[in-house]
Amino acid sequence: GAPIEVDLAPISEGQVIKVTWRGKPIFISHRTKQEVTQAQAVPMSQLKDPQTDQDRTKPGHEQWLVVIGICTHLGCIPMAKSGEYNGWFCPCHGSVYDDSGRIRQGPAPLNLAIPPYRFVSDSKIEIG
Ligand code: FES
Repeated sequence: GAPIEVDLAPISEGQVIKVTWRGKPIFISHRTKQEVTQAQAVPMSQLKDPQTDQDRTKPGHEQWLVVIGICTHLGCIPMAKSGEYNGWFCPCHGSVYDDSGRIRQGPAPLNLAIPPYRFVSDSKIEIG
């Protein structure tokens, strides 16, 4: 599959959209400043799959989180803006991800994966 371009301009702060890339659901989350600050402050000791929020975002574009929407347990599509950490909740077996897509509760072993992507401009990304 070819890379896809996504225009971020219509995605308001606090909103999450879903696009499809190579048949996979991709969630794009426009996080608030407060959400970013909180995600960056989570101690690594609280994480099953320790990754900083900075590891999961692009420098200068920290408000944008882009993840592959496939639960790392058995592959269900989790629901956005759900669960105790206002991230993703997987209804299949109850895995809870935070708003950085990091696994926090339940059987999933790993954080939601980050697809290859880059910023083409401040308001456009290319995935793939
Ligand atoms: Fe998501 Fe099992 S597939 S918790």
